Amino acid sequence: MEIEGLKAIIIGGASGFARATATRIANKGGTVAILDRETSAGADVAAELNGTWHPCDVLDFEGIELVIAEAVEALGGLDAALNTAGGGKGGRTIGREGPFSLDDFRATIDLNLIGTFNTNRLCAWHMSTNEPNDDDERGVLINTASIAAFEGQIGQVAYTAAKAGIAGMTLTMARDLGSVGIRVTTIAPSLFATGLTAGVTDEWAETLTKDAAFPKRLGQPDEFARLAVAIIENPMLNGDTIRLDGGQRFAPK
Ligand SMILES: NC(=O)c1ccc[n+]([C@@H]2O[C@H](COP(=O)([O-])OP(=O)(O)OC[C@H]3O[C@@H](n4cnc5c(N)ncnc54)[C@H](O)[C@@H]3O)[C@@H](O)[C@H]2O)c1
Repeated sequence: MEIEGLKAIIIGGASGFARATATRIANKGGTVAILDRETSAGADVAAELNGTWHPCDVLDFEGIELVIAEAVEALGGLDAALNTAGGGKGGRTIGREGPFSLDDFRATIDLNLIGTFNTNRLCAWHMSTNEPNDDDERGVLINTASIAAFEGQIGQVAYTAAKAGIAGMTLTMARDLGSVGIRVTTIAPSLFATGLTAGVTDEWAETLTKDAAFPKRLGQPDEFARLAVAIIENPMLNGDTIRLDGGQRFAPK
């Protein structure tokens, strides 16, 4: 799909990966609807990019349906959707105080896996009404996992399960949606300098990235955005989870 004229929903768009992607899309002639939490900087980001602002909480599984419908109306259609809203509750399967909290496990699955599937199914439904483009495409969904989906570290059991779920459903959803020309791709980043990692000092970042092949540093949000744009532009990128990690493999801790 061409970025020029693209209509995109960017969930988590107030910060980090999603903000950088929204900026790239807007700078290349696309239109963005920024979805993020009410308390985020989403309004300012949307204004800066001549986009529209739609406060939401992806954990409000029913309410987000209306927010997405409003965003699609504001855009005048929907070609692409990126979801980065996510995160996790840390803790080992059993700790000193007892077994890992099932509520925390469930909350992590809800935010990452259920939240992603919910926005995917709703966005795909809107995309399914599009006239196909010259490549027979009606839309593209981009999700966010983590390299922890493949080699989760000690204390990441809930996060790993949730992100592995996102990676695991990618091919199946791409197959489900192939007949209507909607692609699904997931990006699995290593550590990047975003709002999520704002507390990581330079010294700590050096330790955290020492096992990368090259470059041994935190990734930059725009490096994620460049991949997201490449996914949108390339019709053959589908059904896969792409690692974006400088060759890093997480050690157990
Ligand atoms: N930054 C990293 O090192 C890294 C590495 C691997 C994976 N990830 C994944 O990237 C995503 C985070 O993106 P980021 O790193 O750009 O962080 P970020 O904090 O800069 O941006 C995430 C955005 O998502 C929004 N968000 C969070 N929960 C939400 C909710 N319930 N409803 C609506 N919006 C919500 C936040 O307000 C924020 O603006 C997560 O899915 C995380 O698991 C990050």
